[in-house]
Amino acid sequence: MSEDPKKDLPQWSEDFPIAWEEDHYVTRRELAKFLTLGSALLVGANTAMAVAGRARQERLYAPQRIAGAGALGAGESLLFRYPTDEDPCILVRTREGALVAFSQVCTHLSCAVVFRPADERLFCPCHNGLFECGEGRGGAQPLEGPPERPLPRIVLAVKDGEVYAVGVRT
Ligand code: FES
Repeated sequence: MSEDPKKDLPQWSEDFPIAWEEDHYVTRRELAKFLTLGSALLVGANTAMAVAGRARQERLYAPQRIAGAGALGAGESLLFRYPTDEDPCILVRTREGALVAFSQVCTHLSCAVVFRPADERLFCPCHNGLFECGEGRGGAQPLEGPPERPLPRIVLAVKDGEVYAVGVRT
């Protein structure tokens, strides 16, 4: 005569039976492989996003006349709006005679930057932000203060003695 094997089991094991033999075990090695692969994928994705974020972008818009090419003397600047009336920009003639233009909207909290001829920098009076004002390919790099991103550069073209804004490079 055989005894019932379930006789001494607690009630919960009948209510919630667990089929141990069908349960899936994850070995330490499998877990380590999964974590390593997952970490590698995260690092790759973050790197790709960082590279994409730093990549320069240039957008071309309809050309817009800003001024005559001789309108500015060395160390002078003038304000204009581009590509829309909501986008204030600044055109500068450097001491070396180059024409450069940038968005006038500070990348910290959007105050208007002004040209400071004494050191040829773009200065934001709100929190003493300072940007370079050179001829590089990218935007005006932040030098001091809270801004961390460059001011977008306005792409210029000179044709028939007139200066045009033709695009924006970030
Ligand atoms: S808004 Fe320009 S430095 Fe803060």
